[in-house]
Amino acid sequence: NADNIAWYLKTEVLKTTGIVLHNEEKTNRPAIFLNLKYKKPDPGESYHLIIENNLVVIQASSEKGLFYGVVSLLQMLRTAKIKHGVAEISGCKITDAPAYAWRGLMLDESRHFFGKEKVKEILDWMAFYKLNRLHWHLTDEPAWRLEIKKYPNLALIGGIGDYLNENAPAKYYSQEDIKEIIAYAANRFIEVIPEIDMPGHATAANRAYPEYSGGGTPEHPEFTFNPGLEKTYSYLTDILKEISVLFPSQMIHLGGDEVSFGNEKWKTNPDIISLMNTKNLKDVKEVEDYFMKRMADSVFRLNSKLLVWDEMANAGLPTEKTIMFWWRHDQPKQLRTLMEKRYRTVLCPRLPLYFDFVQDSTHRYGRKWNKLYSPIEDVYNFNAAGFVEKEQELSFIEGIQANLWTETVPDRARLDFLLFPRLAALAESAWTKQKNKNLEAFKFRLKSHINLYNQAGLYYYDPFQPGQHPETPVKRKKPLNYKD
Ligand code: ACM
Repeated sequence: NADNIAWYLKTEVLKTTGIVLHNEEKTNRPAIFLNLKYKKPDPGESYHLIIENNLVVIQASSEKGLFYGVVSLLQMLRTAKIKHGVAEISGCKITDAPAYAWRGLMLDESRHFFGKEKVKEILDWMAFYKLNRLHWHLTDEPAWRLEIKKYPNLALIGGIGDYLNENAPAKYYSQEDIKEIIAYAANRFIEVIPEIDMPGHATAANRAYPEYSGGGTPEHPEFTFNPGLEKTYSYLTDILKEISVLFPSQMIHLGGDEVSFGNEKWKTNPDIISLMNTKNLKDVKEVEDYFMKRMADSVFRLNSKLLVWDEMANAGLPTEKTIMFWWRHDQPKQLRTLMEKRYRTVLCPRLPLYFDFVQDSTHRYGRKWNKLYSPIEDVYNFNAAGFVEKEQELSFIEGIQANLWTETVPDRARLDFLLFPRLAALAESAWTKQKNKNLEAFKFRLKSHINLYNQAGLYYYDPFQPGQHPETPVKRKKPLNYKD
């Protein structure tokens, strides 16, 4: 409610500026009013912020809107000149609303684990930038990062290792940790969505419970779950049950990407051949789609929405309960299919929204695509309308998201380096209508945010003074483009 939001404002102002805001009903001094007038059924996320005559009034018809108004005020205070405990901010009348409902960041903690404090810090910055979805990639080849009570070895054994060191001690989030992070995010109006990748990218899970493995390839050993065994479906459904109780977002991302990287054993596995015969599935792609439809049913029975990568565009998943993530920028036909089938879609094309791609031509340790990369300008200029063929298709675009895969991110400094300042540009793309964008004005404002990154001790990339924080070398295990 509004009290919580007022409390958030007070604590953030105190923490970041040292200024104490008092709770006083009547005062002749400058005052801030938070005015929440509920409007139903769909109040949206908009707000009004009016600053005049020593009064600040923030008005909204939803808590989300009120929160974003408060964040705008906070942005002004944090970038204002402060003298003797007094911040000077200009008068204004702002009416504001986000361009997209889905304003996401994906963090991969399978390849490297950053831990609760770093995740909370990221949530703080997401809130500061009015982003509202943390897509948490918690399972993959190197490690499984969350506790499942019914299958403790997923965390205890699956949690061992990271991208560079398969023997690194187990690191994972306990269910208590997860609850703490979700509550922290909820206070910032951020929903947390877990990704439990299947049927591929299942390597770490298969180390813990090999009886559900569908095999892999020399390069991607034990990469898949076995879709030919009935017990695989109940095992994975049990896992999803715990997850659906833990994550109140009622959205579960099941991945579904790159299964073909490691499913060659499916062709000769007797259980899978038998499944193909009984269910009339003509190839392994149809097996993959069958598997995902079964798991989708489990997700729906748990009253959750299903989220998947764009490989699932033709799997026949129900449009009203599924959100698709278009990531393969080199496959525009997948996006065409999603639009034609009227799937709600989150745009996260590698160029420019994969933040493990480098942001400057001189950077050497992140990904590139035929020499192309993801500079901050491209993130700022990202325009969803440029990806659809018909105006009405824009209504299927749920929003946009940046994805940070962490093969090249072994430590927090590197994480900062790839996130900042591109996170600011992502926020602008998610929040600002294209016609209101102005790159030069953005760059001017960005300078004051760089001061904030300094105060916070972040190892950000400074596009204005690249020498400020040089790119730190990163060890490579193998060529980076294996995911592509
Ligand atoms: C992906 O990058 N494999 C979704």
